[in-house]
Amino acid sequence: MTVLALETSCDETGVAILHGRNGESKSELLASEVASQIAAHEKYGGIVPEIASRNHLVYAPRLVDRVASSVKIGLSEIDAFAATNGPGLASSLMIGASIAKGLAIGFGKPYLAINHLEGHLLSPFFGSLEKGNQIRPNVSLIVSGGHTMLVLVDGLDDYRLIGRTVDDAAGEAFDKVGKMLGLGYPGGPEIEKQARSGDPNRFDLPRSMLDSESFSFSGLKTAVRYLLPKLNVIPSRGDGEGPRDRSLDHRGPMRDQSPSERSFAFAQDDKLLADLCASFQQAIIDVLVRKTIAAVQKYRVGLVTISGGVSCNQELRRQLGEACVRGGFEFKNAEPWLCTDNAAMIAFAGLLRVQAGFQSEVTEEIDPNLALV
Ligand code: KG4
Ligand code: ZN
Repeated sequence: MTVLALETSCDETGVAILHGRNGESKSELLASEVASQIAAHEKYGGIVPEIASRNHLVYAPRLVDRVASSVKIGLSEIDAFAATNGPGLASSLMIGASIAKGLAIGFGKPYLAINHLEGHLLSPFFGSLEKGNQIRPNVSLIVSGGHTMLVLVDGLDDYRLIGRTVDDAAGEAFDKVGKMLGLGYPGGPEIEKQARSGDPNRFDLPRSMLDSESFSFSGLKTAVRYLLPKLNVIPSRGDGEGPRDRSLDHRGPMRDQSPSERSFAFAQDDKLLADLCASFQQAIIDVLVRKTIAAVQKYRVGLVTISGGVSCNQELRRQLGEACVRGGFEFKNAEPWLCTDNAAMIAFAGLLRVQAGFQSEVTEEIDPNLALV
């Protein structure tokens, strides 16, 4: 069974071809390509939907051709076509889903509409399934740019929500704080880089809703925003929060701070930026680790998985991994290249689904707010 999948839910165009046999634990990734649009959106400080969909329209057909010819496979030899059908940007989702549907109709093969979050959730099992393709029960922490959720997984298509964020996602908080600090987009990898040489205990930032199964990261972001002027750093404009709040500046009306002025503030204290990043990152990690461990203790499944872009973060992986060892739980994470958006995870979800007898109607519409549970 060979599946071709497209992922165009946001600002990465991904196409992948995956081959697997029913009942066999190993699937073989024949090709996976991602065309990143970060450069096209960076100057706007965030994703511009119109630009994203225009780029998908340019890249997706080229990538389909490229992956097929790189593995010397004719599109007629593909057994099923899959695409992300939500959640994500409507005009971006439409591009990948329309191409997959067109190919499925044209070649008379099944079409599989895949939930992007299911792609993330299954990614820790990529290439390492056990016992006849079974997804073992686990507590799954999905941490991406748009979502932060804990899910109780009993098997394929058997998901129960434990908790989700009531405001910002963890990745969104990384991106917004990264922007305040003038670190560019996306903020997560930059903050992680800075944090490596920083002191995570220097700034005492809030850990919200610790005793709940839900998450909240907007208070943490706001705490950083209030802290910065006290350190003579004026948060960069356009950090996704609308008009600026002048009351934040304790020295009078706020004005914008140029990158060189901001770096002057950071140069006055050469540990400041690293310590801020490390303290912020640790606040996020503490919350994620504590709630995940509480969930796996409560639901007694013995296995923790983590997925989504934020799970690239080495410090998060290390600390959650260590907490699992201490608690006697197994811990699985996907390789970093599988954590951020890609089509291999969509192909994997498609393969498992088609092997389990699922198929979607080509009339199935994309859904920007598609829920996993
Ligand atoms: O899963 P993903 O690629 O896209 C969505 O589905 O949203 O996640 C992107 C998010 C961004 O917010 C980005 O800042 C974050 O993942 N991210 C990280 C790291 N790498 C990516 N956050 C923290 N540390 C990282 N190393
Ligand atoms: Zn994602």
